[in-house]
Amino acid sequence: MATRSAPPSAAPSSSSLALGRRGALGDLDHDALLDAQRSTVATPRRRYGVAARLLFALLDAVYGRARTLSKFKVLELVARVPYQSWEQVAYIAITHTYEQTGLARRIYDRVSESRAQQDNEQWHLLILEERIVHTGVREGWIRFRVIPQVLAFAYYQLSWLLYVVRPAWSYRLNADFEDHAEHEYMAFAAEHPEWDAEPFDSAFAEDYGRFACVADLFRQIGYDERVHKEESLARMREPRFR
Ligand SMILES: [Fe+2]
Ligand SMILES: [Fe+2]
Repeated sequence: MATRSAPPSAAPSSSSLALGRRGALGDLDHDALLDAQRSTVATPRRRYGVAARLLFALLDAVYGRARTLSKFKVLELVARVPYQSWEQVAYIAITHTYEQTGLARRIYDRVSESRAQQDNEQWHLLILEERIVHTGVREGWIRFRVIPQVLAFAYYQLSWLLYVVRPAWSYRLNADFEDHAEHEYMAFAAEHPEWDAEPFDSAFAEDYGRFACVADLFRQIGYDERVHKEESLARMREPRFR
């Protein structure tokens, strides 16, 4: 297999996200995905804020500490909503600023970025659901349908409120969430060495990407989460529309 250089640590631009032909971020082969996993494992987790720690503790209490496909699916359901809330705030901002066309255009670029990130999270969600069906895992209706939707609703409100009051707070919460997801996915792949020998087959391969094995799929998702984190950290430094 061809060797490529280490994966880029900097987030791609919003336009490269929006125009990417595959849903997965970057263009990483097996070796680059292994490098990405090693680099995540070697990087300490962020010092999470209170809201993020409460959320992770709640998820552990309801779904257990063990990493499972079903628990990751709940994470993915929640992961999309900050981007939805930012998109909504940005569109409202355009309503109020459209006469300043340059500013409105820059705000629209934020809309596009949020939408691309939502799409990326959506492929994660659909691929996880597909794997859950494939492995025949049984899920309770309350724990895996009702509670995740309540969590997603509450998390949307929190992300929206933080974004309206002080956007950097909302980006910080998301950076914590994405950092946690990045580390959890890379650990998940490491916990399942048998996935290195299992071919990846998915109805969403055209949309998201093709991989040498199932372990690479999870390394790729972990890498996507790192890109999301780095985008939020970059936005924390220039949080307001201008
Ligand atoms: Fe995700
Ligand atoms: Fe993410």
